[in-house]
Order: sequence, then C-alpha cells, then structure tokens
Amino acid sequence: MPEFMNPFPGMVPGRKMKDRELARAIRLSLAAEEEAIHLYEALADATTNKLAAAVLQDIANEEKEHAGEFLRLLKILDKGEEQWLANGADEVEEMVAKLKPARKKAAKKKAAPKKK
Ligand SMILES: [Fe+2]
Repeated sequence: MPEFMNPFPGMVPGRKMKDRELARAIRLSLAAEEEAIHLYEALADATTNKLAAAVLQDIANEEKEHAGEFLRLLKILDKGEEQWLANGADEVEEMVAKLKPARKKAAKKKAAPKKK
C-alpha cells in the first residue's frame, strides 16, 4: 500500500530527485490512483443513489486517466519498464491461448443437439 504520510519515501531531503528515485515516487502515486479507483467504484456499487453512483464512477474514471499518465511517465523514466510490462502481458496471453481450445470445446458440447 502507498505510504501517504511521506510523499518521498527513501529520498534524501534537500536535493532534486534522480530519475530512478522519481520513478519510485511515481510507483507510489500510481498505487494511490489504483487505491482511489477501488474506493470510488466500491462506493458507487454500494449506493442506491443513482446521481452519487454516477459522480463516483466519473471520478473513478478520471483516476484511471491519472493512472495512465503515471504509467506513461514511468515508462519514460524507467527504460526497462515497458519491456517488463510486455513480458507480463505476453505470459497472460500464453495462458489465454492455452485455455481457448478448452473453452471452444465446452461451448460446442453445450450447443450440440442430442442424438436420438
Ligand atoms: Fe488522481
């Protein structure tokens, strides 16, 4: 979880941050955006007030844009970031590809008419 009491954890005060230090601070900022999205969507889901739910979801969506901005900045600051993220995405795609044939078979079995 992000540490909200100190916005610059691990930084030596009195000087500008190096890009690596800034990247670490951005990671905390990204985590804070994700936490905010979670909170606002949970509140939207928990209310029967349609206006409040719409406002909360709109705010959650704005936080998603902020997360996108932080993620893009992180990819600029940390040159390896994009490749690590791509590697993770590829791993999931491999898992999706392995599951796809099983899903299709199960769907065909269900849809196939019974023989008499
Ligand atoms: Fe935000």
